[in-house]
Amino acid sequence: MIESLLAQLKAGAFDSLSRAESVTDIEGLRVRILGKKGELTEILKGLASVAPNDRPRLGQLANQLKDEISSVLNQKLVLFQAQESQNKLRSEGVDIHLPPIRRLIGRRHPIQLVLQDVVAIFSRMGFSVKEGPDVETEYYNFEALNIPADHPAREMHDTFYLENSLLLRTHTSPVQIRTMETQSPPIKIIVPGNVYRCDLDVTHSPMFHQVEGLYVDSTVTFSQLKGTLVYFLKEFFGQSRKVRFRPSYFPFTEPSTEVDVECGRCNGEGCQSCKQTGWLEILGAGMVNRKVVLSAGYDPDQVTGFAFGIGIERLAMLRYNISDIRLLYENDLRFLGQF
Ligand code: DAH
Repeated sequence: MIESLLAQLKAGAFDSLSRAESVTDIEGLRVRILGKKGELTEILKGLASVAPNDRPRLGQLANQLKDEISSVLNQKLVLFQAQESQNKLRSEGVDIHLPPIRRLIGRRHPIQLVLQDVVAIFSRMGFSVKEGPDVETEYYNFEALNIPADHPAREMHDTFYLENSLLLRTHTSPVQIRTMETQSPPIKIIVPGNVYRCDLDVTHSPMFHQVEGLYVDSTVTFSQLKGTLVYFLKEFFGQSRKVRFRPSYFPFTEPSTEVDVECGRCNGEGCQSCKQTGWLEILGAGMVNRKVVLSAGYDPDQVTGFAFGIGIERLAMLRYNISDIRLLYENDLRFLGQF
């Protein structure tokens, strides 16, 4: 009876084992057949009712079967464990041939690079940085700078007017007045900032950047102005660049000058960039007009000064050979990545 049960168990067990496919299947079978309430254990309980003479033989038979099944279970377990860990490695594996994810690193904008440079050069000459508001009054933007309401120079500025006779400053010059009103000479400042004019083409943007300069003291001279600007331009463009001063007119300076540098594209030969002149206009400057010194609250017989205004975009376009100013504001990463 027990013998046939064992034979049946053996057949069933090996059949199940042959169909097992995974570690889970094997563990399930181990419990089902050899577990505490497993099929073999159930059969062994029947040994109690067998004749004592037969017990050792049947017991041995059962133990042999147990060993046989155990050994197959163990072999298959090792096999499936190996297979499963292979599969896991394969599915979780990293392909080291893939290119890494590219991390985009921000960089400084060309306008900031130029501004930094300009500030650094003037700092070495003892100028300190001042700022003023973008929203200005007509008084600071025009009147105090000797540009009265009916002055034709106001036409030079295509002004964005706001309510209550406020406006967006058309230049950084108003900061000259604001500074002189609150400090006493000597004053030696540069003023980087945004300025606004209603203008838009390849060389004009409605918002752009200037750096204003102002030096006032008891005896500031035109030759100091020249020395300061020549030093700046040679530091910025290189020592071999030629520089020239032309007489000009600004309401807030007298005398006034415009400063050119030799065209870097044709080295002064004359080309399209410099309209065949060999020169590029870089900045405006002059000795602070007596009327401006007066409106700032000083005695023009005691205090003299010089001032200048530089367009930052123009410097950036020349340094980096940029032909369209709008590239500087479109934030195209292909453009910005080049600096
Ligand atoms: N404010 C002038 C402009 O925006 C530039 C300028 C010229 C500033 C001469 C100055 C100066 O301080 O002396 O066109």
